[in-house]
Amino acid sequence: MDLKLKGRVAIITGGAGGFGSAIAEEYAREGVYTVIADVAINAAQELAQRVSQTYPASRSVAIQTDVTRKSSVEQMAQTAIAEFGRIDVLVNNAGLIQRRNVLEIDDAFWEKMMTINLRGAIYASQACIPYMADERYGGKQFGRIIMMSSSSADHASAGMTLYSTTKVGLEMLGQAISKEHGHQNIFAICPRFGIAPTPGWDFRSYADSLGLTYDPTQKDDDKRAVIEYYSKQLPMGKVGTPEEVARIVVLCSSYIMDPLINQTLNAWWGRG
Ligand SMILES: NC(=O)c1ccc[n+]([C@@H]2O[C@H](COP(=O)([O-])OP(=O)(O)OC[C@H]3O[C@@H](n4cnc5c(N)ncnc54)[C@H](O)[C@@H]3O)[C@@H](O)[C@H]2O)c1
Repeated sequence: MDLKLKGRVAIITGGAGGFGSAIAEEYAREGVYTVIADVAINAAQELAQRVSQTYPASRSVAIQTDVTRKSSVEQMAQTAIAEFGRIDVLVNNAGLIQRRNVLEIDDAFWEKMMTINLRGAIYASQACIPYMADERYGGKQFGRIIMMSSSSADHASAGMTLYSTTKVGLEMLGQAISKEHGHQNIFAICPRFGIAPTPGWDFRSYADSLGLTYDPTQKDDDKRAVIEYYSKQLPMGKVGTPEEVARIVVLCSSYIMDPLINQTLNAWWGRG
C-alpha cells in the first residue's frame, strides 16, 4: 500500500529520544524529510546524519529546540520552512515520563511536567499550523498533527497523576485543533501508546513504586524487573517497542487515516 508520504516534511519534537529516533527512521524509509527538534542537540545531529546517509531518498536536519520556549519553537518551524519550504506533519512527541505521588507533587514538578508535555505541544502547534494553512508553503492546505498520548490518558495509575493530566490535555488540544482547522485539511490524531520502555524511563522509580525485587548493584536489573513485570500483564507476553510505535505514527500521518480524524487510538498491546 502506498502511504503517499514521499516528499512530505515532518517535524518531530523530542526527535532524538527513544520514540523520536525510531519515528525519524521510519519516516525516512517512506521518503519523508524530517526535522529532528530536541534540546539534546548532539544526539539530534548524530541521528539526522545517520538517517540522511542511510536513506538517500530523504533528508533529515537537526535543530536545537526547547519546546517550553516560544521563540525556540518558532525558530524550529522557520528552520523547516527554510530547509524544505513546507511543513506537512508535526509530531508532538517531546515529553517527560516521571512518577510522583499526589502528595509529593510540588510547584517545580508541576511546572516541569506541564510546560514540557502540554505547553510545548501548544507552542509547537501554534508555530506550525499557520504554515500548514498557507498555500504559499506546499501549494495546498494540509496538516497532520500527531499527539503522542498514552494509556495514562485513559486510566490513572499510582504515581502518574500529573503525567495522565498532561496527556488528557494533549488529547483535548488535538480535538480542538481538528474542530478549528479541519476545514483547512489540518487535523490531529492521538495514538495512546502503552508500555514501550525507552531510555527516558526512570526504571528505578518504577521498580520501587511497584514494589519489585531487583539487585541495585547489578546494572539494569531494575529495568529487567520492570520489563518482566509488565510483560507478564500483557496478552502477547511482551511490552511494545519504539519501532512498533513508529509504524503507527507514520500510518497516522497518511491520507489512509483521514476517516479517523480527531480520534484517540488505543495502541497499548492489550493492556487491560
Ligand atoms: N515510552 C513509552 O512507553 C511511552 C508510552 C506512551 C507515550 N509515550 C510518550 O511518547 C513521547 C516520547 O517518549 P520516549 O519514551 O521516547 O521518551 P524519551 O525520554 O526517550 O524521549 C524524549 C525526548 O524529548 C526530549 N526533550 C525533553 N525535554 C524537551 C524540551 N523541553 N524540548 C525539546 N525536547 C525535549 C529529550 O531530550 C528526549 O530526546 C513522550 O511524549 C511520552 O510521554 C511514551
